[in-house]
Amino acid sequence: MNVPLLALDDGALADRDDFRRDVLAGLGALPRAVPAKYLYDARGSALFDAICELPEYYPTRTETAILRDCADEIAKLAGPGCALVEYGSGSSVKTRILLDAMPDLHAYVPIDISRQHLDATAARLRNDYVGLRVDPVSGDYMALDALPAGINGARRIGFFPGSTIGNLTPDEAILFLRRARRLLRSNGALVLGVDLRKAPQRLHDAYNDAAGVTAQFTLNLLRRMNRELDANFDLSAFAHDAFYNEAEGRIEIYLRSLRDQTVTIAGRRFVFAAGERVHTEYSYKYDNAGIAELARKGGFSIAHTWTDPDRLFAVVFLK
Ligand code: AVJ
Repeated sequence: MNVPLLALDDGALADRDDFRRDVLAGLGALPRAVPAKYLYDARGSALFDAICELPEYYPTRTETAILRDCADEIAKLAGPGCALVEYGSGSSVKTRILLDAMPDLHAYVPIDISRQHLDATAARLRNDYVGLRVDPVSGDYMALDALPAGINGARRIGFFPGSTIGNLTPDEAILFLRRARRLLRSNGALVLGVDLRKAPQRLHDAYNDAAGVTAQFTLNLLRRMNRELDANFDLSAFAHDAFYNEAEGRIEIYLRSLRDQTVTIAGRRFVFAAGERVHTEYSYKYDNAGIAELARKGGFSIAHTWTDPDRLFAVVFLK
């Protein structure tokens, strides 16, 4: 290995063990898959930020506009002195819209798997929101079952924007919601961003941008395996393959092998046939009935739904 292991903290080493284990298991099974959360190393996160700026990728700018319009209503539904708990503290732009509308917040609790990302976010927010208590929690929010002691008593308002819930299958999404309901407690609430079903061509284009940034984002997973798992993927021998499965209401994304090839990953050999695919992401799209079903099965009820004029995206307040 040519990686300076001593420069990595225990957390990063444990993360790498998880990555290796999940990759070896996911590529050893059929159908082959790698969990979508591994797309977000530093370069992957930067590429995702670039995706959010693409003309074809409407979700980010649409949700941001919705949040600007409804932030005061969200603040009113949340009530004074609550703790805002963000699942996957991604783009702070959306967070700041809520923080600006909730000046009497008791605490902001960002949850993220990346310790580095969390520390940077927390430092910036403490600097910009003087007096705001920022209590970051590092970990996988799918497995989290406790929050920092300091927020005890405050009403817990979850925030899960970006339609990240779309990465989960509906069954996984329901499990997530049930866990969130337990974590946020019975008087809590969850502000959820959900991408809506729409014309297939629009969806297709959002995941097949002309500039090829989304392809770079998917292919970066191979680059990450090369670097962190001592793999030898030839990035030019795989293609980003994304399409809308209308029957299932989801975008499916794969890495497709362009030829017969053998790759070594962490000392193990994997054979890929020409045309064979490795699943990297689902991105589920919902309609109103689907959102209502998710909410109900997850133990929530819908207090309010906001959408944009073209009904591309929805922000829902679940309680
Ligand atoms: C961050 C999961 C919401 O599904 O639209 C964007 C990820 N992948 N383009 C999405 C993604 C390729 C994104 N989520």
